[in-house]
Amino acid sequence: MYKISQEDIEKVRDLSDIVDVISQYVQLIRKGNNFFGLCPFHNEKTPSFSVAHQKQIFHCFGCGKGGNVFSFVMDYQKISFPESVKLLADKYNVDIKKNAKTSEPEKYSILYELHEVAEDLYQKNLFSKKGKLALNYLKERGLTIDTIKKYKIGLSFNIWDDLVKKFRGKGYRRKYIEESGLFIKSKKGVFDRFRSRIMFPIHHLNGKTVGFGGRIFGSDDMSKYMNSPETIIYKKSDILYGLNFSRSAILRYNYTILVEGYMDLIQMTQAGVEPVVAVSGTAFTERHALALKRVTKNVLLLYDADSAGGKAIIKAGWMLFKTGLYPSVILPPSGKDPDDWVRDEGIETVKASIEDPLDYCSFHLSFYNAKNLTGAEREEYILNLSKNLVNIDNKIARNDLIRVFSQNLILEEKELINLINKNKTKSITNVELNSEQDKSSFSSQVDKAQFELVKLLLNEKKSTRQYVKDKVSTDLFQNPVLKNIAEKAIQVSENNFSKIIENIPDNEEKSTIIKILMEDLGNVEAEEIVSDCLKILISAPIKEKIKALRVNIKEKELRGEDPSIDIFSLEKYRKKLNEL
Ligand code: CTP
Ligand code: MN
Repeated sequence: MYKISQEDIEKVRDLSDIVDVISQYVQLIRKGNNFFGLCPFHNEKTPSFSVAHQKQIFHCFGCGKGGNVFSFVMDYQKISFPESVKLLADKYNVDIKKNAKTSEPEKYSILYELHEVAEDLYQKNLFSKKGKLALNYLKERGLTIDTIKKYKIGLSFNIWDDLVKKFRGKGYRRKYIEESGLFIKSKKGVFDRFRSRIMFPIHHLNGKTVGFGGRIFGSDDMSKYMNSPETIIYKKSDILYGLNFSRSAILRYNYTILVEGYMDLIQMTQAGVEPVVAVSGTAFTERHALALKRVTKNVLLLYDADSAGGKAIIKAGWMLFKTGLYPSVILPPSGKDPDDWVRDEGIETVKASIEDPLDYCSFHLSFYNAKNLTGAEREEYILNLSKNLVNIDNKIARNDLIRVFSQNLILEEKELINLINKNKTKSITNVELNSEQDKSSFSSQVDKAQFELVKLLLNEKKSTRQYVKDKVSTDLFQNPVLKNIAEKAIQVSENNFSKIIENIPDNEEKSTIIKILMEDLGNVEAEEIVSDCLKILISAPIKEKIKALRVNIKEKELRGEDPSIDIFSLEKYRKKLNEL
């Protein structure tokens, strides 16, 4: 994804209208300054979803979701920020320039072009006379012509320079040809990387071809599959095979099936099971999980029913939990992969298993025969569990896993939790920090004071905003979220609410802030509030110092040392406090 310049983002923001955009998806009714409708993000019967036209923000008082026009489009369409800007730019006819600074933009388009040419050549080869055997092979494996065309499957001939010839003399820079991953460089020159292979193009989510997986055909090369190397357009840990085709089905079903191979995916989708993606040729990474999280949290792992497949399920499952998703498992009959399964037993059998997947715990326990382990093996199994459980920040999922594993292993939950906590301190994870942050937002007096000031900085009346800007320095703000908002509110010249709420991490605090923005704050006595809040904020660090000094004095007294310096400082701070 290319970078969009800030200037273009502002242009799109200025031109788009949040009511106009949301009305496309939600029926809105005007009430006073705001519009109301049924929230598209949760199920409800009475409308608590509201849109503030003037402020260009939305908020659901039911589920807490809220944001500006970009966040609405991102959440609704489950797309990234740049994608949302692009979508709105298209809608409002804004011409967004690709950022010239992102390393050689022409390189990207040329690599895409090279792949397009290669894909065309391979497809043409497959449907040519010389491709007959390969085409028959695919047909024998059960693929229809429609499927072959949909996935743009092709064939590379057993020729060293079939593709090379396509590019020779066309003015492509040699550097780009070499970086495309489609060729192999040797002393004698550049040759086609893929020869005598059935070619599966790998598509980016935007539909562009970024690489190939080539399956041996008609030669006895050692490796069954050969894949494109990583290039600037093909990042293996980012791309899920087939997602460009299955994305909308995944959104519709709210789950995806994850398989290992190209043929597994193609066979299943051809048989009518649409929500499928494949990892193909790499381990399942965190970035894969994050890519899936944009479309669904429910992942059914359907790997080969062998020991390698089992191990891969275990790993992918932990990774999914760690990333906040929910894995479950579908098992083909022993020794089979999904492709064989569909072909041998028919899609209805497979569908029945999809309807009734195995939960991850049960799979884990049975894969390791965990209930029957004893002694050192049992200990090792449980330790291993704790090491994986500690990485799961999602407390609900983690607690459920702890409960189910403990019950099945006839182990005290407490024991498992102790082991997890031990891992915690060892790995100095931020679990502790997280639980701190989970505490309800803005509950301390100091936080509340900052919150009140933020409210004033967001007041409709310019004079009120200006008064606070003159009196309050953001240095006094300790709460990172509130400081961020305050700084933005001061920087942004007019009250551009859409911009002020950008980049707040999605959490309770964001929801709280948007909620106050939705209110008409109207007339308040700014002077009094400001002076009260300032008192709290200025006195807070002094009170901290006094507290620390008291401890010091006590300790010195206990040790029989002279505390008079500290007593002197203490008096000084007390005086300061009284003068406020
Ligand atoms: N794979 C790979 N490189 C290999 C072997 C496998 O990239 N040397 C990837 C391919 O994407 C392949 C998947 O891993 O589709 C699963 O491998 P495997 O189960 O061995 O192949 P199948 O998908 O069963 O292939 P086929 O049905 O065509 O024999
Ligand atoms: Mn197979």
